[in-house]
Amino acid sequence: MCGIVGYIGKKPVVEVLIDGLRKLEYRGYDSSGIAINAGGKIKIYKAEGKLQNLVDVLTKHTEETKTAKIGIGHIRWATHGAPTEINAHPHTCTCGKLVIVHNGIIENFKELKEELIKKGCSFRSQTDTETVAHLIAQEFAQTKDLTQAVRLATKKIQGAYALGVMHQDLPGMLVATKRNAPLLVGIGEGEFFIASDVPAIIEHTKKALYLNDNEVVTLTTEMKLIDAENKKVTPKIEVLPWEPVALSKMGYKHFMLKEIHEQPDVIRNVLSGKLYNIDEPISLKEVKLTKETLKNLHRIQVIACGTSLHAAMVGKYLIEEFCSIPVDVEASSEYIYRKNVTDKNTLVIGVSQSGETADTLTAIKQSKEKGSHILIITNRPDSTMAREADSLVPVSAGIEVSVAATKSYTAQLISFYLLALYMAEVKGSLDEKTLVELKKELIVLPQKLEMILSNKEQIQKCAKAYANHKDFIYIARGINFATALEGALKLKEISYINATGYPAGELKHGPIAMLDETMPVLSILMQGKVYEKLLSNAEEAKARNAKLIALTNSSDKKLDELFDFIIKIPEVDEIFSPVIAAVPLQLLAYYIAEFLGKDVDQPRNLAKSVTVE
Ligand code: M6R
Repeated sequence: MCGIVGYIGKKPVVEVLIDGLRKLEYRGYDSSGIAINAGGKIKIYKAEGKLQNLVDVLTKHTEETKTAKIGIGHIRWATHGAPTEINAHPHTCTCGKLVIVHNGIIENFKELKEELIKKGCSFRSQTDTETVAHLIAQEFAQTKDLTQAVRLATKKIQGAYALGVMHQDLPGMLVATKRNAPLLVGIGEGEFFIASDVPAIIEHTKKALYLNDNEVVTLTTEMKLIDAENKKVTPKIEVLPWEPVALSKMGYKHFMLKEIHEQPDVIRNVLSGKLYNIDEPISLKEVKLTKETLKNLHRIQVIACGTSLHAAMVGKYLIEEFCSIPVDVEASSEYIYRKNVTDKNTLVIGVSQSGETADTLTAIKQSKEKGSHILIITNRPDSTMAREADSLVPVSAGIEVSVAATKSYTAQLISFYLLALYMAEVKGSLDEKTLVELKKELIVLPQKLEMILSNKEQIQKCAKAYANHKDFIYIARGINFATALEGALKLKEISYINATGYPAGELKHGPIAMLDETMPVLSILMQGKVYEKLLSNAEEAKARNAKLIALTNSSDKKLDELFDFIIKIPEVDEIFSPVIAAVPLQLLAYYIAEFLGKDVDQPRNLAKSVTVE
């Protein structure tokens, strides 16, 4: 969470920083700030609220900022201290000459702060970050060397951080470091960038260095890299796999709508190179699970958060169905605080769009220590999680800007289909005919999504009719229980309407008490083994006067009588219905939020990449 950007070079720094922060707005957006060295003086500009407020502040200072060529910037998602101007980054030491931006949480900041106050430091904000500014300044006073000051100060810090640091007396130097929070250095022609994510720099350069934990990089006219013990490290420069065009709305009103529409092509992209031909085995080049490993597996644990957790729930269903291996799915935040009985005969699968979610990362590290094989399904093959993996399934959805996950979810689902089929092939748990039939269905999914996307009017109508309801219930059974949870999460996230997903059979065990004529109940009614059961559950809701919406691929005439509104989608084998059902629910949430005038791409209180526990 929070976004860092920094620059040293010949370009007008304010433009580079603001442009970079704009690309990082998905990481948090409750306040922002920049610090530059202008004419030998550190100047700081901050604003509460959206980045535009900072831009408005800066337009009043163009004269004093225009010649600056070095600076650091930050966009905040508040952890310690309210999202006010005073708590916005950058933060400085007491004299104001040393200035820093920070992502992460300093766990021992209270103890450090007490010591620093005793040493005469005066604090201005309520943040944990300010402690680090004072701490580095103390070291700098001793060493007169900014790199060493950063290296020594960070040894005293517990917690997670990515830091960008400048000093007024060193106008040609930018220092950065990290531990358990992402940070990369972009390398241009006679210029360097630092950023917490690729979008902030991709328009300037595709060459980058990903910092490893505890490394300190010093950027002047050249780049120097050391480790925590002050040993020189040879930088491993990589070429970034992103295209700048991915960051444009391409004429859509919101990134979310654009990303929803990208899904047919995203699925084609995920399948390409992995499923060449229905008669050939699935190819997952970075999955290192041998027949032997699979034979010895006692179970699989899948850990994830939020939308990725819902994809994991579908994944459980698929792996159990195709491979007959027991699978547990758990929220990473729960997994990490109980006895971990994982072992080398457990396969641990981490699912994460960003590959940086703190809880999932901690869970992965814990199971790695127990000797489990770690398989990561992520949209970011350049992420920390991907680097921890023994096996990797890159989901290839392209960069997702909107905070609400859409195309990354369907890409995760497709990745699970591929993985489950791959494992079934290696293990020999499905016969040839079934494998071919499943692959046939898989490759026609993009066309089915295109049909849904070209028939959006029914969903817009439904959104308009139900947008003013305060609560929603989503029900489903079997493989689509996760779809109900995901549909409800989408609605909550971007419209702030209270929406809950239930396994339909549970309705009568409590939630039914809430039903009356004010409550819309949306049934995910896909043809298959639980169709009739779900229909009976919908009848029970009708008997309590609830308003009934069906999302269905059935042409059953009796639905017309039972349901107040029907969203019709193409027919599909039940096992693939989570992919088909997810898209109309994303659109329904989108149109309701848009109808209510909500900030669709940047919903309140959220951030795309949750890098704090
Ligand atoms: O990057 P991750 O997939 O690990 O993120 C997990 C959740 O924070 C994320 O899915 C969140 O729930 C999304 N905002 C959902 O739209």
